[in-house]
Amino acid sequence: MRIGSVLENQKIEKRIAITPDIAKKYIALGFEVALSEKYGEHLGFKDKDYKELGVEISKDEKEIINSADIIVQLGLLSDDNLLLLKENQTLIGVLNPHINKEKIEKLSKKNINIFSLEMLPRITRAQSMDILSSQANLAGYKAVIESFANFEKAIPMMMTAAGTIPAAKVLVVGAGVAGLQAIATAKRMGAVVFATDVRMASKEQVESLGGKFLTVEGSENLETEGGYAKETSEDFKKKQEELLAETLKKIDIVICTALIPGKKAPLIIKENMIANMKSGSIIYDLAAIQGGNSAFTDVDKIVVKEGVKIMGEANILNKLPVSASNLYSKNVLNFVTNLYDKEKKKVNINLEDEIIEKTLIK
Ligand code: NAI
Repeated sequence: MRIGSVLENQKIEKRIAITPDIAKKYIALGFEVALSEKYGEHLGFKDKDYKELGVEISKDEKEIINSADIIVQLGLLSDDNLLLLKENQTLIGVLNPHINKEKIEKLSKKNINIFSLEMLPRITRAQSMDILSSQANLAGYKAVIESFANFEKAIPMMMTAAGTIPAAKVLVVGAGVAGLQAIATAKRMGAVVFATDVRMASKEQVESLGGKFLTVEGSENLETEGGYAKETSEDFKKKQEELLAETLKKIDIVICTALIPGKKAPLIIKENMIANMKSGSIIYDLAAIQGGNSAFTDVDKIVVKEGVKIMGEANILNKLPVSASNLYSKNVLNFVTNLYDKEKKKVNINLEDEIIEKTLIK
């Protein structure tokens, strides 16, 4: 069994799918590992580190792809590299099947096994493979760090001989994985934290982290069986707007994380609410790439409106690519281990396994 990975498009993706630690684990499982030259160099993982472990490093991407049974990546391969894939090869990544629908359909027709890890079911057995959680957790942390770095006041309360600085007030919109980490991080740095979500189940989690939960009437009904949020009704939106408009007047930093799977991100922080916020406040919109939770969000830009800075990035994980790669490559290893039949030494597409069935693009 041979596993390969080629360098991502560095302009959009700095994470990698096989770190040296994980290469070692594949080799221990009996896999051959092949990577492109300078695969991890930008993260401080040198070719020689990999070679010492027994990894093959090659200048020839085509050869890596041609000879691999399993190819693991972050994003989809380049168009030229996709053309190289052939029957029975397996490609694993975060492949965005909705956006890359046409390309992926072509591959499935060629009997290439395509697995997209954002489709993993949120079940206990899949937790160690859950790239959405591992990456969202880091994104929530980093969004707080980025917004605090741009905030021109101190975060914790400070009582000094020269006077008292009040603690910054943070509002986290959406208390899923990213939101909960944002709450924990902001609390650790001394902020007073408020949070809101449409899923009432998150209230207890917010409170256990020391956050104050803002309940919008009607929240009880807005969780799917899978634990995700449903789209909200017009009535709910109105109630949420009233609650947030009042709260935002006293908030310094807003971290937006609200998402609905497969849909555009809901617009929650509207223009009129921003107009009422204090000058110098910050909105960090983690939903930027899915359309944004805030008015004026512009990907990879800091927009200033009424003295409020609105920021959001295409891929905040590029700002902590080493940690993100360590977790991502471990998630992928766990996924591959589940897919691999050790005795028969081959990929086993067992459609009775929910993890395999849900991630396989048919
Ligand atoms: P997500 O990234 O899809 O959404 C982020 C948060 O935004 C969610 O908490 C959602 O309820 C909230 N949201 C959506 N629309 C909103 C609105 N209009 N106003 C306010 N908040 C809004 O969510 P994530 O982080 O992926 O978590 C989804 C669920 O999956 C949660 O129930 C979580 O506990 C569960 N989960 C389960 C795991 C498992 O292995 N069992 C692992 C990770 C998450």
